Amino acid sequence: MSYQDLIVEVHDKVALIRLNRPKALNALNDNMMNELGEALYKFDADPAIGCIILTGSEKAFAAGADIAAMVDYTYPDTHRDNYIGRNWEHILRVRKPVIGAVAGFALGGGCELAMMCDFLIAADSAKFGQPEIKVGVPPGAGGTQRLPRAVGKAKAMDMLLTARTIDAAEAERIGLVSRVVPADKLIEEVLAVGKQIASMSTSVAIQIKDAVNRSFETTLSQGVSYERQLFQSAFGTPSQKEGMKAFLEKRLPNFEGL
Ligand code: CAA
Repeated sequence: MSYQDLIVEVHDKVALIRLNRPKALNALNDNMMNELGEALYKFDADPAIGCIILTGSEKAFAAGADIAAMVDYTYPDTHRDNYIGRNWEHILRVRKPVIGAVAGFALGGGCELAMMCDFLIAADSAKFGQPEIKVGVPPGAGGTQRLPRAVGKAKAMDMLLTARTIDAAEAERIGLVSRVVPADKLIEEVLAVGKQIASMSTSVAIQIKDAVNRSFETTLSQGVSYERQLFQSAFGTPSQKEGMKAFLEKRLPNFEGL
């Protein structure tokens, strides 16, 4: 399938989706968000894929929602059409792991989209920020909710209220990204991480992702109880049999198709 605003590649069991509106620094418009949903659902349903990577260009992951497209929207337009709500959150319904690979600007809706990935690996060129206040709006795709959960209230309030942009080193220090790599190695490094994840049991990866995401929505005891059920039910799966036998037999496990 070909897309207007995305470039899509498959590397072994890893799908790589690149946001591609270079002239607008990957500003996120309706068509791109619709296409992103289509591509994500396609790879999520593809049994040959074990991990998905979402990235942008060297200059920008995405510089935010498309300001030129929304400048003349009215409140009736945004409310009636459920602007943002209608097509920005497909990524949250993807069951397989999604890694965000961020180089350059991840601002506003770009930072919010990045935070909807399961974890982020940043190039040393990455810059994160929620500058919506400078264009007269609050964040609209989860910035006031996911940023404090990721980095704590003090840093989130600082970034959201001042529109300050932080660099990759600070993003790693405060826990927004899991790793920082040289910009010219970003895709190579993230593909290696994606391949590592895809080489193991996709079912287990889906369970881990589901359980971790629940930890943000539930009490500790309910979350631990859910995890315990997943763990106990794992003993009815081929992943557990293969993984544990392979360890004891001192060989590599074969999780193909699991
Ligand atoms: N929407 C539309 N177009 C954008 C854009 C955006 N968010 N960000 C950049 N562009 C366009 C610019 O208009 C420019 O287009 P032209 O060449 O046609 O003039 C092109 O991309 C290159 O941008 P700059 O010339 O500004 O590049 P720069 O290197 O000087 O600056 C930047 C880069 C600091 C990222 C600057 O472009 C910028 O501040 N962009 C806007 C960031 C922003 O405010 N994002 C939040 C948007 S609101 C939002 O996202 C709401 C939400 O929560 C969902």
